[in-house]
Amino acid sequence: MSSALFRTKNVEQSIRDTEEPEHSLKKSLSALDLTVFGVGVIIGTGIFVLTGQVARNNAGPAVALAFVVAGVVCALAALCYAEFASTVPVAGSAYTFSYASLGELPAWIIGWDLVLEFALGTAVVAVGWSGYIRSLLDNAGWHLPGYLAGRDGASGFGFDVLAAALVLVLTGILVLGMKLSARITQLVVAIKVIVVLIVIVAGAFFVKGGNYKPFIPHPEPVSAGGNLKAPLIQLMFGWAPANFGVMGIFTAASVVFFAFIGFDIVATAAEETRNPQRDMPRGILGSLLICTVLYVAVSVVVTGMQKYTRLSVEAPLADAFKSIGHPWYAGVISFGAAVGLTTVCLILLLGQTRVFFAMSRDGLLPRFFSRVHPRFRTPHRPTILLGVIIAIVAGFTSLSELAELVNIGTLFAFVVVAVSVIILRKTRPDLPRAFRTPWVPFVPIVSVCATLWLMLNLPAETWLRFAVWMVIGFVVYFLYGRTHSRLAHREETAAGAPTPPTGNTP
Ligand code: ALA
Repeated sequence: MSSALFRTKNVEQSIRDTEEPEHSLKKSLSALDLTVFGVGVIIGTGIFVLTGQVARNNAGPAVALAFVVAGVVCALAALCYAEFASTVPVAGSAYTFSYASLGELPAWIIGWDLVLEFALGTAVVAVGWSGYIRSLLDNAGWHLPGYLAGRDGASGFGFDVLAAALVLVLTGILVLGMKLSARITQLVVAIKVIVVLIVIVAGAFFVKGGNYKPFIPHPEPVSAGGNLKAPLIQLMFGWAPANFGVMGIFTAASVVFFAFIGFDIVATAAEETRNPQRDMPRGILGSLLICTVLYVAVSVVVTGMQKYTRLSVEAPLADAFKSIGHPWYAGVISFGAAVGLTTVCLILLLGQTRVFFAMSRDGLLPRFFSRVHPRFRTPHRPTILLGVIIAIVAGFTSLSELAELVNIGTLFAFVVVAVSVIILRKTRPDLPRAFRTPWVPFVPIVSVCATLWLMLNLPAETWLRFAVWMVIGFVVYFLYGRTHSRLAHREETAAGAPTPPTGNTP
C-alpha cells in the first residue's frame, strides 16, 4: 500500500503523455511570451493594494525591506522551479515535478494545494479589480447598488457582479486559445508596467526625507495576541505579538509575498513552450527580477511621498498622488491598476486549469477533463468548470483572509519543489537538465528554511484553514484518485494483471 502511494511517474512517461494527440497542447510560447506572462501575473493586487496596508500596519517605510525579504525567498524557490521546469517540461508545474520525484500521494497533495492557490488567487484579484473599477465609475458619477458591489459593501445580500463577470469573460478568452491570450496579455502588461514606472519616476519628485523617519518604527504591542489571528510563530514561542520593529518586517514579508505569486505559474506553461529547456529559466527568473526591482522602487517612493501612517489601504499608490494635489496622476494609476489586474486574473486562471488538466490526464481526477478542444486545442472542460466556480466564489467572497490562504498554499508548494530538486538529482542524475539549480543541496535547503520561516509568520487561523482543505484533498484521493490513477493501471498491466475498467478512460 505505501509503495503504491509513493509510486513515481517516470519523467520520460510524463513527456510521452504530452505527445498523445487528443491530450496534447499547442506549443506556441517563446521566452518573451513567458516573461510577459510572468510580469503579467506577478504585478497586481500585491503592489497596488497591499503596500499601503502593510506599511501602515506592520512595517512602516521598511515595507521596502519586506519586499526584498519576500523577493529573496522567491528567488531561491525560482532557482528550484527553473531546474524542474527545464527538466520536466510538462503542464502542471509543482504537481508534475513531485509526481516525478516524491510519488503519487505527495503529487496529489501538491496538485490539490495548487488548485487552492490559483483558484482563490483568481477570486482575490478579481474582487480587487472590481474595487478599482467601482472607484473609476464613482469618479464618473455612476454608482452600482450596494448589493451588486460584493460582500464588503453590502449589509445583507451582496454579490460582486463585476468580479464574477470578469472571471467569466476571461474564461471565454482562455477557451479560445493560448496565443490569443498571450497577445492580449502583452498589451495589458505594457500598460501596467508603464503605470508602475509613472509612479516611480513622477513620485520621486515628491519624496520628502522626513517621511522616512523612523525607517523601521519601534515595535508596538498588538491586542490580538494569543488568539488565532496571531502569527503561528508567536503562539509557538509564546512571544508577545507586536507590529513594526524587525519582526514586523517579516510579518509584512509574509503578506506582501502575495505580490510575487505568479512566477511559479510560468512553469505551468512549460508544455506550451516552443523551447522549454532554454526559455523556461529565462522566463521565470527574468520576470521575477523585473518585478522585485519595481516593487522596491515603488514602495520606497510611495512611503517617501506620504507618511506611512497616512497611506490609504485601498488604493495607496493613487491616493499618494491625490494627497499631494495631483488627482490626474491618481486617475491614470487607477486605470492602469484596473487594466493590470485583468492579466493577473487571466494567468492565475490559466495556471489553475493547466494543473487540473495534468491531474486529470494522470487519472487522479476524471479523464473527461483532459480531452482538449478539437479546434482550439485548449483544455476547455476544466477551464469552463473552474471558471464558473471561481466566478461564484469571487462574487460571494470577502478578501483579506483568502489572500493569506493563497500565500500559505503557494509557500507550501515552494517547499515541495525544493525538496523534489534534491530527490530527483539523486534518483535520476542522468536526466538532461538545461538549467541546474546552483549548489544543490545547499540552495534548496536554504529555500526550504526561508519558505518555512515566512509560513510561520502567517496567522494560526490560516494554518487551520489550510489543514481543512488538505484533509478534504486526502478524502478525494483515497475515494477516487488512488484507484483511477493511470500510473497504477500501467504498473498493473506491466505486472500481467488484468486492467480494471476505469469508466472515464476515453
Ligand atoms: N502577484 C499577484 C498580485 O499581486 C498575484 O496580485
